[in-house]
Amino acid sequence: MYVPPRVLTNDDLAQRVETSHAWIVERTGIERRHIADHETSATMAIEAARAALQVADADPRDVDLIIVATATPDYLMPSTACLVQDALGAIRAGAVDLNAGCSGFVYALAMANQAIASGEHRLVLVIGVETLSRVIDWQDRSTCVLFGDGAGAVLLRTAEGRAGILASLLGADGSGADLLIIPAGGSAQPPSRETIEGRLHYLRMNGREVFRFATRVVPRAIEQVAQKAGLKVRDIDLIIAHQANLRILEAVAKRLDLPMERFVVNLQEYGNTSAASVPIALCEAIQNGRIQPGQHLVLVGFGAGLTWAAVALKWSEAPMRLAVPHFHNLLRAILYRWAAWRTRLRQLLRRLAIEGIRRAERRGRSS
Ligand code: COA
Repeated sequence: MYVPPRVLTNDDLAQRVETSHAWIVERTGIERRHIADHETSATMAIEAARAALQVADADPRDVDLIIVATATPDYLMPSTACLVQDALGAIRAGAVDLNAGCSGFVYALAMANQAIASGEHRLVLVIGVETLSRVIDWQDRSTCVLFGDGAGAVLLRTAEGRAGILASLLGADGSGADLLIIPAGGSAQPPSRETIEGRLHYLRMNGREVFRFATRVVPRAIEQVAQKAGLKVRDIDLIIAHQANLRILEAVAKRLDLPMERFVVNLQEYGNTSAASVPIALCEAIQNGRIQPGQHLVLVGFGAGLTWAAVALKWSEAPMRLAVPHFHNLLRAILYRWAAWRTRLRQLLRRLAIEGIRRAERRGRSS
């Protein structure tokens, strides 16, 4: 995982808009969030991916597929996944972005699992990343207090045995598309003076409706995915849900009749990091020793679209315990350095090839 070091507290926000630490904590549970400074979605995704490759002790050249879940890509095109692929030197990997709002990472995880189950792919890098601070309207107190930036990544591979992903489900209801939306900047409303003046390139949200949607859909998704996995809800050891609002998590726990101890909660530190929130919470839970081999977990996301997704899995081992040989880390560092040189070399060769073609054309015309 990667989160920017720059921290924005509720008190900092209270100096920008009419709000207070007490209001934000009471309504959301959020105390601070991390905000990108020089970072972009691609640079944070690369950091998180490198951390995942290190924990799994994997060679980036063995990765088959990279899926980056994000609603805040560096560019409309190319995909952020291609920028990640290049920086990692993952020369055999396909790369694609996936936008399912805050459900993006869980969507991507389910789809990566299908890609592996089909036999088509063996090693898939799944990243959730978001730089929401760049699309937040910092004058809108009803949204700017909620979000933060960051990235989390996991590596999925084929394995023997009964551990791993047991079941997944994906859901969508596009009739709620307007509830959480960045109205301008796409093909419906391309950027123009009017869209900028109307602040239409910023995120807009109907908080109340999204709240109602989340508290309705999340408990149902958890029950359904548990059932698909052959589990009872009470058999789930830990639920890693999208970190949007503590009140949403408490409502979900109440509806499922589960204690809050079964939920990972870290939104007080990071706010809502959208597609990055579930993998960041997962990484922290692993680091804190909250996830043990043999445990059943459910990861669940919900968000813009509207979308929701859930994955039930059995944890096989605690990867942090595996000691990665020092020279493997050294090799990866060399590969990343080489990847940067390779990019420059390929760009130079491309320029030279184009220049060669132009010269040949000029010679052809003059003769
Ligand atoms: N500070 C102080 N007051 C605020 C405020 C802020 N940051 N934001 C809104 N308010 C005010 C409103 O203007 C309103 O004032 P009014 O009654 O004078 O009109 C009042 O607080 C209540 O607003 P309301 O929107 O009804 O608050 P709420 O209890 O629904 O909480 C959210 C607002 C956004 C925290 C809540 O709706 C929520 O969390 N929704 C889900 C959002 C979410 O998770 N989105 C991401 C999904 S992926």
